[in-house]
Amino acid sequence: MNAKIIAVVNQKGGAGKTTLAMLLAGSLADAGHGVLLADADPQNTAVHWAGMGACFPAAVEDMSGAAGKLHKVLRQRRGSYDFIVIDSPPAAGAPVTLSALRIADLALVPVIPSPLDLWASVRIREAILAARGKNPDLLARLVVNQMQPNTVLAREVLGMLPEFGIPLLAASLKSRTAYRQCAALGMSIAALGARAGMAILELEALRREVEALLAGNG
Ligand SMILES: Nc1ncnc2c1ncn2[C@@H]1O[C@H](COP(=O)(O)OP(=O)(O)OP(=O)(O)O)[C@@H](O)[C@H]1O
Ligand SMILES: [Mg+2]
Repeated sequence: MNAKIIAVVNQKGGAGKTTLAMLLAGSLADAGHGVLLADADPQNTAVHWAGMGACFPAAVEDMSGAAGKLHKVLRQRRGSYDFIVIDSPPAAGAPVTLSALRIADLALVPVIPSPLDLWASVRIREAILAARGKNPDLLARLVVNQMQPNTVLAREVLGMLPEFGIPLLAASLKSRTAYRQCAALGMSIAALGARAGMAILELEALRREVEALLAGNG
């Protein structure tokens, strides 16, 4: 095995990095992959999420202490998993974020469709472009989070995204109580069962798009 590494990054606090990282890691694990969630944020929100229940399907480890050596630590670990998902702190210039971007195959940048959030995300775009100096094959996609379809604002902001310089993942995440429930119960989305039907479909589309991208078919 040589795990594909996905770094979930954004300078903006509260954009949904931990939510996206945990939902994606859980979905990949539920689909039968061996998955490690590397919690690179000293706030350790992902570790807390997994600790709320006994059944989170991916391994979740605090790796925030690795700081600028995270890429070296993960190089040692990637033989044991199919996917490693990194949850990062809201700091584009932090050594741990730069180290994550150095080893990642794919950077996912969750953005809430609001101009303020997009402006605050400019620094992560710069960090991704700079990381390609040492990691030229690094793919990157914006992921719209807390999407509110059919609002004029959402359309205007989405219209701005092409200028942002990082392509948009076709799949997005709506604002859903089910995602907060997953965190409260320490679960993946599939574990919520039928009551989370729409959320499960939304996550499945996102997971499949990410799998295809990393298989070179995206
Ligand atoms: N799609 C969503 N639907 C419902 N709630 C969401 C969604 N995405 C994020 N949230 C909620 O928004 C808040 C911030 O999300 P989250 O903690 O994932 O962001 P973050 O980028 O990891 O924040 P930080 O920068 O502090 O690490 C949380 O309360 C989370 O439950
Ligand atoms: Mg977080």
